[in-house]
Amino acid sequence: MALTVAVTGPTGEIGTSVVRALEADERVARVLGMARRPFDPAARGWRKTEYRQGDILDRGAVDALVGAADVVVHLAYVILGTREESRRVNLDGTRNVFEATAAAERPGRLVYTSSVAAYGYHADNPAPLTEDVPVRGSSEHYYSAQKAACERLLAETTEGLDVYVLRPCIVAGPDATVLLRNLPWEQAAPYVPEPLRRALGLVPGLRPVIPDPGVRFQLVHHDDVASAVVAAAAGDGPPGAYNLAADDEITMADFARAVGAYAVPVPSELVGVASALVDALPLVPAKAEWIHAVRHPMIMDTGRARRALGWTPRHTAHEALTTMTTR
Ligand SMILES: NC(=O)c1ccc[n+]([C@@H]2O[C@H](COP(=O)([O-])OP(=O)(O)OC[C@H]3O[C@@H](n4cnc5c(N)ncnc54)[C@H](OP(=O)(O)O)[C@@H]3O)[C@@H](O)[C@H]2O)c1
Repeated sequence: MALTVAVTGPTGEIGTSVVRALEADERVARVLGMARRPFDPAARGWRKTEYRQGDILDRGAVDALVGAADVVVHLAYVILGTREESRRVNLDGTRNVFEATAAAERPGRLVYTSSVAAYGYHADNPAPLTEDVPVRGSSEHYYSAQKAACERLLAETTEGLDVYVLRPCIVAGPDATVLLRNLPWEQAAPYVPEPLRRALGLVPGLRPVIPDPGVRFQLVHHDDVASAVVAAAAGDGPPGAYNLAADDEITMADFARAVGAYAVPVPSELVGVASALVDALPLVPAKAEWIHAVRHPMIMDTGRARRALGWTPRHTAHEALTTMTTR
């Protein structure tokens, strides 16, 4: 088996690790990486990888990419953007990738990185979440709603393909700092009314303080997501959905310590109030919607990835956090 793997989004926080892992896997002969902005594979030490300039909104570019591959890995996505930009790229662009892959003769396998957010932030979510829990999304958070919509789209568009859906929790590590740069509290702070901001510790002058509603989080290192993507790309286990997270969990207090802040316990009801306000207020930028992500614990069971895909995370959540903040 000498696979040609097409990757959309090869320069992202996950994409960079994925290409590195594909480069290192002897079952992979060639990697075709498509992004809008140019990159030089040789400058990154990549020898099997070729750059393809293209936008997933351009069906012709997508057809040309996937038509030359045995396996398609779809990573390109807008995580932090406006509702409109994210809708176009994430829904229209993803539809292009799914439909083009299904229509092309050569590829037999599609790997798509969904997210824990696809389950939606619901009070009645089981703990832990297994892959059998329906992906309902949360309509008040664009990213969650789009992740759930993309999974429904997969079911509609990819008949005949072996489809692997990976659902990572928040990804961290030296090459993945989105959590650090975009803590939900930071994004939501300007849109929460002043008295509530004070109660939540969101006043810039009072930093570094991070409110801790007691919700626990999972993290996964980008290299561990990459090893799952490679296992799926090589067909190491049956097609299907796989949750991805490290073994341990972190608290807001752990996070605060890692970023040199300190955590102040706040009642979890306050997060619910802030979340309801962000949902109710008109003209709230999409980024503020990330506050919904912390209103309920979202702990996933990762047994299926271990048993069926042979996946073992090499890094703990604490390591992922520490390496993210000490880079
Ligand atoms: N990071 C996390 O914590 C996390 C957690 C769970 C799931 N995920 C999922 O994992 C996937 C990859 O995430 P990431 O963190 O690597 O994202 P990222 O760092 O934002 O990278 C996005 C990549 O997609 C490319 N891209 C964006 N729009 C494009 C377009 N219209 N056409 C072609 N390429 C485009 C970007 O390159 P150009 O801008 O140059 O085009 C870049 O290579 C996403 O589906 C994300 O939702 C991420």
